[in-house]
Amino acid sequence: MPQQKTRIAPSILSSDFSKLGEEVRAIDEAGADYIHIDVMDGHFVPNLTFGAPVVKKIRPHTKKVFDVHLMIAPVDPLIADFVDAGSDIITAHVEAGPHIHRTLQAIKSHGVKAGVSLNPSTSIESIKHVMDMVDLILIMTVNPGFGGQSFIPLLDKIAAVRAMIDATGRTIDLQVDGGINDQTAKQCVEAGADLLVAGSYVFGGGPGEYANRIKALRG
Ligand code: DX5
Ligand code: ZN
Repeated sequence: MPQQKTRIAPSILSSDFSKLGEEVRAIDEAGADYIHIDVMDGHFVPNLTFGAPVVKKIRPHTKKVFDVHLMIAPVDPLIADFVDAGSDIITAHVEAGPHIHRTLQAIKSHGVKAGVSLNPSTSIESIKHVMDMVDLILIMTVNPGFGGQSFIPLLDKIAAVRAMIDATGRTIDLQVDGGINDQTAKQCVEAGADLLVAGSYVFGGGPGEYANRIKALRG
C-alpha cells in the first residue's frame, strides 16, 4: 500500500530511566503515536537495556502502541515474555535468528504484529521472502546499540523498500530508526518512510519540548 501519514515513535532509550512511567505518560500526552522500546542484550548489540518485566511495568502508563524493538539473539525463546508484557508490535533483526521466517511466524502466532529490522549493511534481498508476513519493516540508519549516533543516509534503501511495500498491496509500516531529527526526518519521509523513531532528538530538550519536537518531526 502507498505511504501512510507520518507517525512518530519516540524511543524511551533516551528518557530518564529513573522515572520511566512518568516519561511514557509525558510522550503520550506530547503526541507520540507509538512508544518505541529498545531491548538490548549486550551480545547481539554492545549495550544492555532492560527486559520484559520493565515493559510490563510501564504498560499501565499508556494505551499507545508498544513498538518493541528486540536487539537480542537468539530472539525466539523470549517472544512469549514480551507478548505477555503487553507488546503490540515485536520487531526482530534478520541476523538475530537463526531463522527470521520462523521468528516472524512465532511472533504472529501470539496475535501481535510482526516487524523485521535491517541493519545498515543488511541487504533488502534478505526480506524478499517474508514480505507477506510482516506488518512493519525497520530500516536502521545507525548501527544498533546506542542512542545519539549520526544518521547514515540510506535514502536509496528506504526508497527501494517503499517500492517493495507498494508492490505487495498490503499495509506495512516503513519505519526508520537512528539519528532522526527535524532535518533527517524530512529526508526519510521524502524517500518513503511513514514511521519515524527518535530518541535523543525528542528527549534532548527536556519535557517542556517533547510536544514541539514531535510536531517538528511530523513536518
Ligand atoms: C538504537 C536504537 C534506537 C535509538 C535511536 O539501536 O534502536 O531506537 O534509541 O536513538 P537516536 O534517535 O538518538 O538515534
Ligand atoms: Zn530502536
